Amino acid sequence: MAGFYVKKMADNPITLKRPAVRRYLAPINTASTQQLFTDCLIIGAGIAGLRAAIEAAAGGCEVIITCKKTLEDSNTWHAQGGIASVLAEEDSFESHIEDTLTTGCGINDIDVVNEVVKDGPELIKQLIDWGTEFDKVKGKIDITREGGHSHPRIAHAQGDCTGRAIAQTLIKKVQKKSNISIVQNFFAIDLITNDDNECVGVIGQAANSQKQIIWAKTTILATGGAGKLYRETTNPETATADGLAMAVRAGAILRDMEFMQFHPTTLYIAGASRALITETLRGEGAVMLDVNGDKFMSAYHPDAELAPRDIVSRAILQQMLKTNSTHVFLDIRHFDKAHFAKRFPFINEIVTSFDIDISKDLIPVRPSAHYMVGGVKTDALANTSIKNLYTCGEIASTGLHGANRLGSNSLLEGLVFGKIAGTQAAQRSKKPNGPVGLRKFRIDIPESDRSRLDTSDVLNSLRSLMWRNVGIIRFAKPLAEAQEIISFWDRYVLDKVFDSPQGWECQNILTTSLMIAKAAEARTESRGTHFRDDFPESDDEKFKTHIEFV
Ligand code: SIN
Repeated sequence: MAGFYVKKMADNPITLKRPAVRRYLAPINTASTQQLFTDCLIIGAGIAGLRAAIEAAAGGCEVIITCKKTLEDSNTWHAQGGIASVLAEEDSFESHIEDTLTTGCGINDIDVVNEVVKDGPELIKQLIDWGTEFDKVKGKIDITREGGHSHPRIAHAQGDCTGRAIAQTLIKKVQKKSNISIVQNFFAIDLITNDDNECVGVIGQAANSQKQIIWAKTTILATGGAGKLYRETTNPETATADGLAMAVRAGAILRDMEFMQFHPTTLYIAGASRALITETLRGEGAVMLDVNGDKFMSAYHPDAELAPRDIVSRAILQQMLKTNSTHVFLDIRHFDKAHFAKRFPFINEIVTSFDIDISKDLIPVRPSAHYMVGGVKTDALANTSIKNLYTCGEIASTGLHGANRLGSNSLLEGLVFGKIAGTQAAQRSKKPNGPVGLRKFRIDIPESDRSRLDTSDVLNSLRSLMWRNVGIIRFAKPLAEAQEIISFWDRYVLDKVFDSPQGWECQNILTTSLMIAKAAEARTESRGTHFRDDFPESDDEKFKTHIEFV
């Protein structure tokens, strides 16, 4: 490992052994592969990747930004609630910092929290200057509240389409830069590293289904999250943990993998895809009812509907068990219908498409996997434990969130760390001794003669297993059982050589799921999003720290 990076981030973590995985998923030979060269490669085009591209390009770099599908397929694009920042006179940095730390349950990085919170207002102003039109009331940004925030501080745009509005602004800006190229439908398979633990580029599959190598002086991983490890999720199809698995294969340190955040309110209609029903509805007065029509949240937390997300998710699950039902309800019958349609156009369209009349009907909801709080260990300058590899956005574990993420802090983090990663990568790319790539590179992988499993069947079973055994409420036995079953699948899937994204995704999902189950078993306490029914209290003496895969 690169001593400098690791030492700088040392914090007495508990360490676990990284999964034993093959270094590269796919064979490659530069003699027969198209190669591109750039200063700065950015993998992922959500808020963090796009913001990083703008900064790296401003620093004089040639930038290539790749995305797995199209620019509209990021988690950012789907983000509803908004972006949290101190925007009102009555609010303060101290309060936003305190809320972030309280929600993070003692393992946030205080310096990172300070930086992100304090940089927020200026970077939001910059977004406005670049064209994002945040919704306003009486000429001022209309800020609202979400669980865990002591003040209204969530800015939104196009109602509940905030992520899309921000992404559109950044995409326009990126498209105007002559030194940024956007490569869509590029499936990043593996980071390439050299013997000095330096990242020198990526192997991927381009839109024409041909393999491609992009050699880069610096690489920024901004591939987002891992919701598709779970049967129930708010995330788009693309959130298959590819970046996390690539990073671990390349030797990066991953941490806090047990902290998967479950969003309390996902539309639950059997057979329909799970749509996020934004928390800001509760911020604006929506009430939770169980299937008997009874309010229940104040029995679980004094802040009732506005308690932090993990508490609301567990309360819903417990109420579902108590009432023997598959869901609870959000009640917004008291909302003004016309205002609702304007303020929440996305949700309005969805509920209307299921013939839910919000003035008469209740909205069936239940929790689902939403946000990977852990990820690639990343310091305050977006460095990872691999030289010339930076991370930002959901894939990065910067220390902002601790053990739980405060709603709408993620777009903010993407903005701040995107800028930091882009700045750092630009500076590094200019250094004359930066790596220039290996140019000649060949990986051969022998075919396995073990039986082949049906990857779509494995994926379906795995997602159900993760939901059942590594979900919102965890116990030792199901966690151990999950690892046994995943390890069994690993033997038949990780040894294969696939030539299409579905196979690579299955391998990435298996690798990442195993780390989540392992870390969840190792943390024999409850903290933040990680709840162990067999260890319901926090154990500060042993666990007020991170769990790292080294
Ligand atoms: C929401 O709108 O409820 C989600 C926002 C977030 O996850 O930060």
